[in-house]
Amino acid sequence: MGVVDEIKNRIDIVDFISGYVALKKAGRNYKGLCPFHSEKTPSFIVFPDSQSWHCFGACGTGGDIFTFLMKRENLDFGEALRILAARAGVQLEPVTPAKAAEQEQEERLFAVNAAAAEYFHDLLVSSAQAEHARAYLEKRGVTPESWRAFQLGYSLNDWHALQNHLRGRGFRHEDIAEVGLIIQREGGEGYYDRFRGRLMFPIRDIRGRVIGFGGRVLDASEPKYMNSPQSPIFDKGSVLYGIDLARGPIRSLNQVIIVEGYMDVIMAHQHGIANVVASMGTALTETQLRALSRLTKRFALALDSDAAGSAATLRGLETARAALDREVKPVPVGPGLIRFESSLKVDLRIVMLPPGKDPDEIIRESRETWDALLAQAIPLVDYYFQIVTAELDLTTAKGKSEAVQRLKPVLQDIGDPIQRQHYIQRLARLVRIDERTLAEALGSPARAAKARPQPEGEVPVPGRADRATYEDYVLYLISRSPGVVPWVGQALADAGLQPPRPDEFRDPRSRAILERIWEPLASESASWPDIQGGLPQIMQDHLAELAQRMGSLPPLPDEQVRAEVFQTILRLRQQYLKSVLADLRFLCQDAEEQHDEEALAQYTLAIGQHTQELRAVQKALGARNEQRAPLFQRE
Ligand code: UTP
Ligand code: MN
Repeated sequence: MGVVDEIKNRIDIVDFISGYVALKKAGRNYKGLCPFHSEKTPSFIVFPDSQSWHCFGACGTGGDIFTFLMKRENLDFGEALRILAARAGVQLEPVTPAKAAEQEQEERLFAVNAAAAEYFHDLLVSSAQAEHARAYLEKRGVTPESWRAFQLGYSLNDWHALQNHLRGRGFRHEDIAEVGLIIQREGGEGYYDRFRGRLMFPIRDIRGRVIGFGGRVLDASEPKYMNSPQSPIFDKGSVLYGIDLARGPIRSLNQVIIVEGYMDVIMAHQHGIANVVASMGTALTETQLRALSRLTKRFALALDSDAAGSAATLRGLETARAALDREVKPVPVGPGLIRFESSLKVDLRIVMLPPGKDPDEIIRESRETWDALLAQAIPLVDYYFQIVTAELDLTTAKGKSEAVQRLKPVLQDIGDPIQRQHYIQRLARLVRIDERTLAEALGSPARAAKARPQPEGEVPVPGRADRATYEDYVLYLISRSPGVVPWVGQALADAGLQPPRPDEFRDPRSRAILERIWEPLASESASWPDIQGGLPQIMQDHLAELAQRMGSLPPLPDEQVRAEVFQTILRLRQQYLKSVLADLRFLCQDAEEQHDEEALAQYTLAIGQHTQELRAVQKALGARNEQRAPLFQRE
């Protein structure tokens, strides 16, 4: 058994989640208020049977103790694993000496920074030499509460003050230099302080540890800001100033506002706008956006008007769009209803700032103006339209074709066909070309859709705009015609295939329902009303919901329902096997890279077995499918 399973066996999910959420028993399961969105009626369910949880409300996500802890504490898997292993008393693989040394070094570097931040802060608060720094902050309207909240500081105008202080506290030159607080003299003789006579802004990671500093001059000299250099604990591409304080508010407000500067963040927080972080004056990176997208999918990007049309900004937005758009994901759009979306997953809006003003000034002048600007934030696509219109001469053929070329990738990515149509119409009017010609130039939606991974597991439901998943469809059909199950069970057995397995179902309710109904129906050992009546309320509700959603499907004769159930189970399995195979291929690759022959042999064997099963499934699916999805191919 792997450590993950071992941990899951030892920690009961109900116990574990009870530490975070007040749970009440509801039938076999437990209910509570979802910790991931704000709600008044509990829609957060913990299933002791499957040791899983699911929120049936706004967030619609679910998982196990690992996913819960990761989401709740915003941890990556490794961190969650360490915490849970400790709690379960499970020994993790011994850390290699190299790894341990690295961790120790990081601890030391964090300690250096923490001590420096404290030192700078004390100077700002009480040193006579910091008088002008205090006056400066006062002039800019930064309150002492904000000094404390952001641990603002002051570095003395001295070549050795910090060095002496830290050396006196027992820190080593090497470590102080490693985080860039001191710099070795040319020729190697001694060190001098990097930050001198500056207002100091400690930069923290999401867990509140000081990873670096920004230092601002108090006059008009250059450079205005000096920042810590790259170090083992400071990666410029992933830093977001203010994230430690903004994390909670971002989550509860379900929105993040991204500004450019230190002062903008501080002023926003000081005025109670706490879901604000700064990119620190550089183009947004994929890493930054990914970190934020764990907290919210709603982004508002405040752009000052000089930056707004610049190439760097646009490139940054391109990165953003590409980064946040890469995966096809099942998106819950209501209780139990999943839509597979391959479109832009985030709501990215641009807040256009008036010329020459940054958020700091606007917020200080008038909170109302700021709120109004935020309310007028425009969606990214509209923003692109604005730029194109502003920059190109749309009366010329060259301008028109350039406009279409530039907007093409943006329009193709709009998942919602109605929205896409809306923007195509708009572009058509803009360049005065008829919509049909334009649609052709953009590529038909079908072609555009082919270019990206096909959303899997969709069943078109006639007459409904919504989509159901294969698993919803199977359960719905079975609940409407339970008499078909023995036939389907036999047909599966005849094809050498197993009955449907819970793992093939994503929704924990579907999983649970399947486990309870399949066997009794297949063996005809109980009647449907009895089986259904014995289901916990939540599962009955789930079935009722499926019936309501798909109730408009025309009734089919039993033979056809049989075939439909059989085929859908096979498609579901095909989808499941493909995803397992994809995982296995990754594992193989890893094992290969690490020259782990034993693991490699094991995965190869598993691939063989799963491939064989996939072939059998595809064969059973019959000729109809053979010309469709290509067989799994081994590279
Ligand atoms: P700004 O020039 O807009 O500075 O740069 P600011 O934050 O508004 O500061 P004030 O209001 O003039 O005091 C925005 C951000 O770009 C980074 C900093 O993170 C700054 O907050 N920056 C700017 C630098 O790193 N170095 C610089 O020389 C200038
Ligand atoms: Mn400013």
